Amino acid sequence: CGIVGYIGHREAYPIIIKGLQRLEYRGYDSAGIVLFDGENTNLSKTKGKVEDLKRKSKVSISTNGKLGLGHTRWATHGVPNDVNSHPHYSNSGDLVIIHNGIIENYESVKKALVNRGYEFHSDTDTEVLVNLIEEVKNKEGVMLGKAVQIALNQVVGAYAIAVFDKNKPDEIVVAKLGSPLAIGIGDGEYFIASDASPFIEFTNNAVYLEDGEMAIIRLGKEIKLRKIKNDAIAYPNILELQLNLEEIEKGGYDHFMLKEIYEQPRAIKDTYRGRLLADEGIVRMAGIDQNMERFLNANRIIIVACGTSWHAGLVAEYIFEDLARIPVEVEYASEFRYRNPVITENDVLIAISQSGETADTLAAIKMAKEKGAFVFGVCNVVGSSIARETHAGAYTHAGPEIGVASTKAFTTQITVLTLIALKLAKEKGSLSEAEFHGYLTELEGIPAKVEKALESNALIETIATEYKDSTNCLYLGRGYNFPVALEGALKLKEISYIHAEGYPAAEMKHGPIALIDEEMPVVVIATRKGHYEKVVSNIQEIKSRSGRIIAVVTEGDESVKELADHVVEVPETSEPLTPLLTTIPLQLLSYHIALMRGCNVDQPRNLAKSVTVE
Ligand code: G6P
Repeated sequence: CGIVGYIGHREAYPIIIKGLQRLEYRGYDSAGIVLFDGENTNLSKTKGKVEDLKRKSKVSISTNGKLGLGHTRWATHGVPNDVNSHPHYSNSGDLVIIHNGIIENYESVKKALVNRGYEFHSDTDTEVLVNLIEEVKNKEGVMLGKAVQIALNQVVGAYAIAVFDKNKPDEIVVAKLGSPLAIGIGDGEYFIASDASPFIEFTNNAVYLEDGEMAIIRLGKEIKLRKIKNDAIAYPNILELQLNLEEIEKGGYDHFMLKEIYEQPRAIKDTYRGRLLADEGIVRMAGIDQNMERFLNANRIIIVACGTSWHAGLVAEYIFEDLARIPVEVEYASEFRYRNPVITENDVLIAISQSGETADTLAAIKMAKEKGAFVFGVCNVVGSSIARETHAGAYTHAGPEIGVASTKAFTTQITVLTLIALKLAKEKGSLSEAEFHGYLTELEGIPAKVEKALESNALIETIATEYKDSTNCLYLGRGYNFPVALEGALKLKEISYIHAEGYPAAEMKHGPIALIDEEMPVVVIATRKGHYEKVVSNIQEIKSRSGRIIAVVTEGDESVKELADHVVEVPETSEPLTPLLTTIPLQLLSYHIALMRGCNVDQPRNLAKSVTVE
């Protein structure tokens, strides 16, 4: 979910609506807004997108008010409908709340409140929280800030909340545990949001709340920060943000996803800038240098992540083992954290996350830290929870990724992980000088080759017209390109709702081959380096069962052309770097197919970009 708030001298309505649109990547089942003009609150909420809310609120409420809260939801408790949308009122109607996260013990709290006469209109855990705050406030006779604090100490869960009291028109109280919350500090005005994008055109100054902190935001006063647990005062660390508006707008592209696909040459360059010094034969990464002993003495590296980031982890497994000769295990964060894994002080855990907020990944990090492992983060979002929770890390510097289907985050994650592997390989001497230099030069040349791979866009669009009505699709790859097959399949199912599966090409004969008939498109990654002959045999197996083959091949390839229905070429590169190129046509294929099927490419149904619940 995404939350936005404003208090100041401007009309809050346009700020909240625009802010919600920027945060829609965080969830878009339903949306809501409340405005307060000092006397009355006006509330509008609806199932659907912020655009629906805009339409509805314009006619249904007075949009005046210099205090406002807004919410865009990814449903956890209660189906997405108007009633379950946020904001929620307390029973008296005095308190209004927005909430991102989950209150785990809401049922027992709700029961107790019902017994004491409280009524509930929605199925949400949030309405329980706002009534609990109200009850505390009345019973203890305390101010809103204190009531929020006491109530939060009675609940279990994760949250970023913002709440105000109609009797206190110049104040908003916020609190954070587990879900992100930033406060933008303007001139005589304050902004609240899940990330800085809603307020970046108004101010560059922001405070990111730490877990377990709350803030009382009062007009004309400095922000008061304190710990939720014990009243201790915390001092706001005001950061100057680097984000610029251009980065979060579409810049002439029809969709964020397409923009982000095309940004990859630049993004990869930004990832290695200052780190990859090919001429000098150096990889410079402070987070690794300062902890070199931990890496060199590691029994093994455990990589944890979710979704696309997990696929980047799989690619990294091949790279680390191949180049740096360090054993690697890759785990879904959600499985790892709950399966009582054996972790020792000699393990290094690498957590990969675009958003830096994924709840399962964060929990896996905390567990590994408790068991003494050294934890290294690979995140895109600067200052995110995972970036702060890890012992050290490296940012991907891909710039904001707004499209829900991850693209440039994936290739930049692979870039960072390749740099790490090369650095460790050099230190360990597992590569010769010549090999090491060769990889550096090759990596430096990757952005230009990605550019080249993007030139297939028109061809891929034509291919897409032929397969847009498919109901299934198989993706095959071997070695370094097996994870790419998984990622290609994930992209297609995420945004076009076509069922797709990625498989190691050789495993096809142990099951998926049964699915192949003349209706079944099979995307095969068959680059020249990397088990080429074996993949060609797999292609032959598909062909003899009448499957339709779309092959991603190395420039100039002739043999696959004879067998496949379509071939898309990518430039030649060294084998460990091929995923950075073979991924590109698969991203474009899913984009075009989704578009032709009339799907919402940037905001596919049921998904959210940042999953801050487990
Ligand atoms: C969500 C997104 C995916 C993403 C995954 C992990 O499911 O829709 O695109 O790969 O979370 O997110 P992270 O931010 O940790 O990389």
